[in-house]
Amino acid sequence: MIIAVDGPAASGKGTIAKALGRHYRLPVLDTGLLYRAVGLSVLKAGGDPDREEDALAACNFGDALLADPALRSEAVGSLASRVSVHQVVRDALVQRQRDFATQPGGAILDGRDIGTVIAPDADAKIFVTASVHVRAERRYKDALAHGGHPDMDSLVADIQARDTRDMSRDHAPLRVADGADLLDTSELTIDAAVQRAIALVDAQL
Ligand code: C5P
Repeated sequence: MIIAVDGPAASGKGTIAKALGRHYRLPVLDTGLLYRAVGLSVLKAGGDPDREEDALAACNFGDALLADPALRSEAVGSLASRVSVHQVVRDALVQRQRDFATQPGGAILDGRDIGTVIAPDADAKIFVTASVHVRAERRYKDALAHGGHPDMDSLVADIQARDTRDMSRDHAPLRVADGADLLDTSELTIDAAVQRAIALVDAQL
């Protein structure tokens, strides 16, 4: 069984994917982390994320980088969205994601193009959304909880820029996959969103 969970930044897709993993006892891959690792690796190498050669060279990151706490920052999220526009980068990461998806027993993957490109034949597909304001507020609270000094206006601007780049790129743009159910989490608690996601998946299986 393969479950695809897609959606924009801070929509709640990662939280929902993890909860689905516990419910269905399936392993979960946060595919955004792979793109974040490429972004961070370009930064560490002093490269330019918009240059295809630099971004491709960064795809050889070691697995230790996937545990780097810096991966979670909004700055690295933005770098990830810049390197992820290059087709060569997407190609370099595709096999790893498909291997995870097709492991015996099944898997859950969350990202931007799981239901459209990585696993178009997934058994269940959910597209998680929330308003830009709600998503920026979530990032704001996260940053405060981690001792940061977030600025709401710049968080809104970052999220909007990332949405625009992810939706308008030529390769594997963010869009609702054929057969996916929409789940808007703007007005939902985490528990309510998870219950709704389970109901949607059950109905698709
Ligand atoms: O989901 P997350 O915010 O960690 O993703 C970071 C960036 O990586 C996204 O803004 C997007 O540009 C890119 N990404 C992608 N395809 C995926 C997952 C993430 O292009 N499957």
